[in-house]
Amino acid sequence: MATISDTFNQYFNQLDRLDLELLIAHTLKKPREFVISHPDYTMTKKQETITKHLISRRLKHEPMAYILGQKEFYGLNFKVNKNTLIPRPETEILVESVISNLQLVIGENKKYTTIIDLGTGSGNIIISIAKEIIKSKLPITNYQLLASDISAKALRVAKQNARLNKVDKKIKFLKSDLLNVFLKNKECSVLCAPCSVIITANLPYLSKKIYKSTMPDVKNYEPKSALLSSTDGLKHYKKLLEQIKKIQNKCSMFHVMCYLEISPEQKPKIQKIIKSILPKSKITFHKDLAKRWRVCQIEL
Ligand SMILES: C[S@@+](CC[C@H](N)C(=O)[O-])C[C@H]1O[C@@H](n2cnc3c(N)ncnc32)[C@H](O)[C@@H]1O
Repeated sequence: MATISDTFNQYFNQLDRLDLELLIAHTLKKPREFVISHPDYTMTKKQETITKHLISRRLKHEPMAYILGQKEFYGLNFKVNKNTLIPRPETEILVESVISNLQLVIGENKKYTTIIDLGTGSGNIIISIAKEIIKSKLPITNYQLLASDISAKALRVAKQNARLNKVDKKIKFLKSDLLNVFLKNKECSVLCAPCSVIITANLPYLSKKIYKSTMPDVKNYEPKSALLSSTDGLKHYKKLLEQIKKIQNKCSMFHVMCYLEISPEQKPKIQKIIKSILPKSKITFHKDLAKRWRVCQIEL
């Protein structure tokens, strides 16, 4: 039977050391520190078989997050599976941008605020915002949190994540193609009330060309419907902006702030699209930690 160090020796030139440590830790149901500090631990036959199976999945480029069934985002744990995009660290900047503005929108203006996360996927954005609101000492009682996705399977995971992170009572999940559900008469009242609306959206935004160049980990495993958008990756955002214009035409009190995650090269194109659809809007861009344009903030 193999020890932990035998397994390292067998695979060290094929797999990343950290990945190996995490896969063994996952099999043994022990923390990574245990794996590091017990090289002579002998695995049972069953543990050896499971570890080999996990390693073979990783060798075929399956992302670690899918193998482990979870991913950390904004200091929280999120369950993920093949129906949800794996939360990316660059999306944390979108959450940060929203949080830094909440003080102003909810705290100072003291307006009833509705936050809607579109294309919620695993629910990482809205759940992180919910946790931050609870953690902050903002006197926020008058707000509601909504999250939607076109994929029922992704929504199922998002709801599980809300439960895991103890915010399931705070967030309402809806199945919708962008804002369609809110454009229906009954739901439109949510947006037309005299309140501030914040829309967060990390929608599919990869152009065909960029999608084709992604690593096998992405292309062969993550849902294409979560990544690819036509019209240079901007079809979803263009449709969303047109829906916002429609709501604005219906409701004079509609005040919205949008935070859209983009691909850095899309900055000039999206700016042009926004100006053509919503000419009176104020547009600001935020960079991610790699100093690349990542979030487009639109105020109406
Ligand atoms: C890039 S993923 C983002 C997931 C998650 N918000 C995150 O930050 O990791 C895009 C999500 O948008 C959803 N989606 C795609 N088209 C949509 C549409 N027309 N309306 C609503 N959601 C859509 C996908 O199912 C996917 O969950």
